[in-house]
Amino acid sequence: MRTINIDRTLTGLMLVLLATLPCTTVARSYEKQTMRKGKSAQIVSSAPTITTPLMDLCSEDINMKLACHCSPESHAKAQKASCSIFDGELPRKDYNWLAFHTQTELEHLKFTVRKSGNLTYIPSDVIATLYKLRTLTIEYGIISDIYPFAFGNLTELRVINLPNNQIVTLHGNAFAHHKSLEELMLENNYIKKIDRDAFVDVPKLIKLNLANNSIFNLHDNGFEELTKLEELRLESNQIAVLAREYFKGLENLKILKLSYNDVEYLGAFVFADLWSLQMLFLDSNRIEKIDERAFDGLTSLNYLHLENNRITTIDSATFTSVSALQLLNLDSNRLTTMTYGHIVPLMDNLVNNSALLSLRDNRLICDCRLSWMYDLSDRTRNEELRESLKGIDCILGQTPEEPTRSPLASSYDFGQLDENGEYIDDSASENDALAKEAPQTVNVLKLGREELPCPEELAGPTGDPNPRESKGLFNLSWNSSAAGDRYGGNIGSSSIVLLAIVTVGLGVVRRTLSC
Ligand SMILES: *[C@@H]1O[C@H](CO)[C@@H](O)[C@H](O)[C@H]1NC(C)=O
Ligand SMILES: *[C@@H]1O[C@H](CO)[C@@H](O)[C@H](O)[C@H]1NC(C)=O
Ligand SMILES: *[C@@H]1O[C@H](CO)[C@@H](O)[C@H](O)[C@H]1NC(C)=O
Ligand SMILES: *[C@@H]1O[C@H](CO)[C@@H](O)[C@H](O)[C@H]1NC(C)=O
Ligand SMILES: *[C@@H]1O[C@H](CO)[C@@H](O)[C@H](O)[C@H]1NC(C)=O
Repeated sequence: MRTINIDRTLTGLMLVLLATLPCTTVARSYEKQTMRKGKSAQIVSSAPTITTPLMDLCSEDINMKLACHCSPESHAKAQKASCSIFDGELPRKDYNWLAFHTQTELEHLKFTVRKSGNLTYIPSDVIATLYKLRTLTIEYGIISDIYPFAFGNLTELRVINLPNNQIVTLHGNAFAHHKSLEELMLENNYIKKIDRDAFVDVPKLIKLNLANNSIFNLHDNGFEELTKLEELRLESNQIAVLAREYFKGLENLKILKLSYNDVEYLGAFVFADLWSLQMLFLDSNRIEKIDERAFDGLTSLNYLHLENNRITTIDSATFTSVSALQLLNLDSNRLTTMTYGHIVPLMDNLVNNSALLSLRDNRLICDCRLSWMYDLSDRTRNEELRESLKGIDCILGQTPEEPTRSPLASSYDFGQLDENGEYIDDSASENDALAKEAPQTVNVLKLGREELPCPEELAGPTGDPNPRESKGLFNLSWNSSAAGDRYGGNIGSSSIVLLAIVTVGLGVVRRTLSC
């Protein structure tokens, strides 16, 4: 082990000696030194020469500004170096960087900036000389900008890992020319400005992590070239709007995480270009509305996380395009109902497979639109789903629909809203014997099917079978359109599609359940 202690007072002497040795080409990039104060300024400007391992990169000497643990430990030609940066700022032209010229075989390199240290830039000059580099990590720096070609166009680089560096801006071509780059990890920074061309020319990128940053808008076609990308993490940002154009080109994307953002609305076809998507995380946003075609195109989707939002109603056709779902999580929303029509597309998986539906912590109103829960609970082979159904509560003694949006409003007296948006029960609706009691939260399955109120109005706007006469699974299909179509009773094309699907679904389920 060759440890050289850099005693500040001896540094000058040492380097003056070394300056008499012949220059190498490598050292040329250090010629235009920024002058530093006092002794060290002279030293640095005259110290471009490395013929022997002047600074042993692998010394692990914590008295150095930059010290690395290397493997293999022989130090001669390390393949792996894990380095710490100590003791104040390490300027771009600091002589400590020269030590890397002795370690040209490095494949894995990591810099951790310690509390006492400071790194404000990507050491591009050094990185550019490490032709064999496969993984690079820099963490806990204070690096506000990632400039174009910051990583030296290295062709072998597979992983760039830059967490916790206070990065604000990704410039165009920041990661360009890395033909083999597969993972780009940028989580836990302050990224706000992403150039439209930040993610170009990285044709093999598989994972991109932008989680926990300050991103509030994405660019149309900003990920367009990432046709191999499989995982895109954007959770914990400030994204308020989602547009189809943002996700153009991501034809192999399997996982999209958008949890903990500020999304309020999911528009039609917004994910329609994500043909391969299997997991979509939209939990913990502010979603209030979902277009009934929002999930169109997601034919491979297995996991849909919508928990912890503000969803009050869902159009019943919403899940028709995602019939491959294995998990639909709608916990902690403001749903007032979930009808048989909503879940018809998922029935196959719910009954036969391990698919899960979670609806805890909503504002479901106890009425016969929830009857399907009993049937599903009776018939599913999936114990976990049965358990999950057991946990669903509803509010007994509350009026069924919001007065302003309901197609039923004209035929039903809803009473007034109190300051929480709950109904003040001032009406004496003949249809609802329970209306006079204060609303109470009860467990749906414990309540029992026969106890679910079933006002006539739930029969639907077009005078279809009255579910009060029959509270079975199959008689409830029409209620879905009554509850789902928030803009009134227009039978648009989607309603016709829904009708067709419900009819087919009925057939399938009827056969399966031998009802
Ligand atoms: C790091 O260096 C930059 C640039 O010199 C300076 O602005 C910043 O305050 C330093 N931060 C710390 C923690 O030393
Ligand atoms: C990387 O490529 C860009 C554009 O082709 C070029 O301007 C830059 O000098 C290259 N950087 C290195 C270190 O080769
Ligand atoms: C988010 O990033 C900040 C630094 O930018 C970090 O302090 C914080 O722990 C991160 N949060 C999570 C949940 O990782
Ligand atoms: C369930 O599986 C059976 C075969 O095991 C199949 O015939 C049926 O269509 C599946 N779907 C439902 C909803 O039961
Ligand atoms: C509804 O159920 C009743 C009996 O429970 C049955 O007579 C009627 O045919 C059913 N209607 C439909 C549309 O399935």
